[in-house]
Amino acid sequence: MDQIYIQGGVALHGTVKSSGAKNAALPLLAASILADGPVVYHRIPHLLDVTTMMTLLSWQGADVTYDDQHRLHIDTRSADKPEAPYELVKTMRASSLVLGPVVARFGHAKVSLPGGCAIGARPIDLHLRGLEAMGATVQMDHGDVVVDAPGGLHGAQIDFPQVTVTGTENLMMAAVLAKGTTVLENAAREPEVVNLADALRSLGADIEGDGTSRIVIRGVERISGGEIHTIADRIETATYLAAGMITGGDVTVTHTDPSLLTAFLEKVEEAGAVVECTNDSIRCRVDGRLRACDIQTMPHPGFPTDLQAQFMALMCVAEGHSVIAETIFENRFMHVQELLRMGAKVHLDGHLATVHGVAQLAGAPVMATDLRASASLVLAGLAAQGETILSRVYHIDRGYERIEEKLGRLGARIERRSEAGHGDRGVMLYA
Ligand code: UD1
Repeated sequence: MDQIYIQGGVALHGTVKSSGAKNAALPLLAASILADGPVVYHRIPHLLDVTTMMTLLSWQGADVTYDDQHRLHIDTRSADKPEAPYELVKTMRASSLVLGPVVARFGHAKVSLPGGCAIGARPIDLHLRGLEAMGATVQMDHGDVVVDAPGGLHGAQIDFPQVTVTGTENLMMAAVLAKGTTVLENAAREPEVVNLADALRSLGADIEGDGTSRIVIRGVERISGGEIHTIADRIETATYLAAGMITGGDVTVTHTDPSLLTAFLEKVEEAGAVVECTNDSIRCRVDGRLRACDIQTMPHPGFPTDLQAQFMALMCVAEGHSVIAETIFENRFMHVQELLRMGAKVHLDGHLATVHGVAQLAGAPVMATDLRASASLVLAGLAAQGETILSRVYHIDRGYERIEEKLGRLGARIERRSEAGHGDRGVMLYA
């Protein structure tokens, strides 16, 4: 297992390019199951979660290849196994995104139920209730969810009692080939949902209202293959901007989209950062210390829960105290215990964290507990005095493409070492 070593205290400067969004890529890949022809993907990030989804599609019998231009080709016409096994689902909860498209195409799906994960129970009951409303039967069988709709799915009125991103995506995909019209009320408005709707439309689906809380999908007989583009990763973008800000530096992220990050950028401006945007780039710089400010995570366009941990890292070294309210997930404060080891002052009370900013963090050995929590520990390590050693790095590899390389190019003293740590083998140094 790899570890990341960081020598903190260096202000980061420079420019880094955003990758394609993990959370957009996963549903886009699952959508290939619906297509009656090959799909060519642009800007699919090289990430562990993406590899898991590709493995799952190959396991189902799809033809999955990269070409020499780094485009990914998926042709699911040969797929004949409407299942998702536990070995794959357990490593990535978003594997359940294949449920909707698989039932839509095969009239049957057997998908292992994702277990609890580090950030709360995270059930998929709303996905299942939606499929039932569309005429499917749902049963549990030895840890698998078995969904049957032998006569095909039909359109339905589905009111989500709570906003769910992958739930919206799953049911949108299921509805594309259903008979009649499906209306999703209180749907997620995340940019990744819009990216999926755009992609499905380009293949022949009839979808309206994405980006609002009411999405209308009129079922079509078939959708074709075609070309699909992945949007920029807004969470990765903000993480690199935060890396610049937490070190008192000046970082620009290109190939991104400022309009996807309005809530985050407003908050960092409130905290004293200078933000400059063009159509496809964002620059943030900080002179001196950030000021504390409060955030509350909310569904899009609110402050994203996937940036809560990184924002907390910023607040740990800001002047004053801030209150961070996590309203999306229970138990998404796993990073707090690790930040405390680095000298942060954070008081937890249910879904609220009160952060008392300190002038300086101290490097320490820390452990990644989930994807975004690990990003916050890297940020804290970049700002801290001395050495931080992050273990369980596989969490960060799920969502950040070559993080040590990108940060290294900005001047960070960061390296990845394989656990064996013998000599120079397995050591990549970017400084
Ligand atoms: C997606 C993102 C994840 C992000 C989250 C919230 C992907 C692959 N992952 O996760 O990075 O943190 O949105 O923005 O896109 N819920 C239920 N029942 C359900 C579904 C959800 O109770 O059937 C609850 C969850 O426990 C949670 C809340 O609804 O409290 C929101 O979860 P949801 O939006 O579904 O998160 P994901 O789609 O899993």
